[in-house]
Amino acid sequence: MLLWQACRCPSRHGTLAAIVTDTDTSFSARVIAWQRRHGRHGLPWQHTRDPYRIWLSEIMLQQTQVTAVVPYYQRFLARFPDVAALAAANEDAVLEGWAGLGYYARARNLHAAAKAVAAAGGFPRTREAMCELPGVGRSTAAAICAFAYGERQAILDGNVRRVFARHFGIEGYPGERRVEQTLWTMADALLPETCIEAYTQGLMDLGARVCVRSAPRCPACPLRETCVALRQNRTAQLPAPRPARALPQRETHMLVLRACGELLLEKRPAPGIWGGLWCFPEVDGQRAREEARARFGLDVEALHTLGVIDHGFTHFRLRIHPLMADVARVQAAEEPGRLWLTPPDALGAAVPVPVRRILLMLARQPAAAGT
Ligand code: ADE
Repeated sequence: MLLWQACRCPSRHGTLAAIVTDTDTSFSARVIAWQRRHGRHGLPWQHTRDPYRIWLSEIMLQQTQVTAVVPYYQRFLARFPDVAALAAANEDAVLEGWAGLGYYARARNLHAAAKAVAAAGGFPRTREAMCELPGVGRSTAAAICAFAYGERQAILDGNVRRVFARHFGIEGYPGERRVEQTLWTMADALLPETCIEAYTQGLMDLGARVCVRSAPRCPACPLRETCVALRQNRTAQLPAPRPARALPQRETHMLVLRACGELLLEKRPAPGIWGGLWCFPEVDGQRAREEARARFGLDVEALHTLGVIDHGFTHFRLRIHPLMADVARVQAAEEPGRLWLTPPDALGAAVPVPVRRILLMLARQPAAAGT
């Protein structure tokens, strides 16, 4: 049985229950037994204790689903087989290896962390020390240490938050401070004494495959007998969605210059959004022709609009208006930090998601509407 200490919470989200102790191991035992029978066992980062391989997978999986990660993971490992190879690589090569996965801050942090690990002569051995690496938060560090060293540490990623919030009927939304404290306390209290690897993987697998956001597969869940949300018919309400924030909207124009079937890309300066990535040049929409002449020595005649691309950042939304022009290629437009690439090569380069979307738009819509 789980023992609970109900605490009257003054917040508008009402009562939160803080777990005190798990007097039997029923929760973890059920997760472990289920993982052994029904969980995932053939993922390419399993069946190894190599912290490099495990760390790489956990970073790639931070904002990306397993099926999308697998081919990138294998390609990246073939290119950078160990932490020394990654540390010795230049940033362009790392970003290129990451191309397509998005959230490139992860790649930059990965590279910085690899250099720190190589300089230290090996990976940190504890969760606390692992958290010092760039890009590694508490849950990621716990997962790495559980899988690589069998360290008994609690994870709490988005999927696990959902499992706990439903199973224990946690009110309030994940991300709220008091809810986070409760969830971490629970996560620690529920840890099994042994089999941390199967338990950690089991929580991940349950969150990804059974206790999914919409239409959870409750009949297949090993925790269904004790799930508060299921008993109260509230799986659709828990966890509560985070209140939507009104974000400022910005607008920009990107100049898509095409010559001989190739497109002009510029390397963005770092720091700044998309620093180090390849982008279509950003221009003032009213002065696109003048800028093409002044910056690239290119004469633009007809300019075409290509629709709009909306992209969300954590603190603002960006609406991008791509402007397309066919130009005669001149040598002057080539210099360091600029590249003419065919669309397939551009798709294989380290480009941010909106540039990728413009490239895909171009592939679908070669004859653009005139302005
Ligand atoms: N999500 C985060 N880490 C994971 C892992 N090791 N396996 C599957 N999904 C995950």
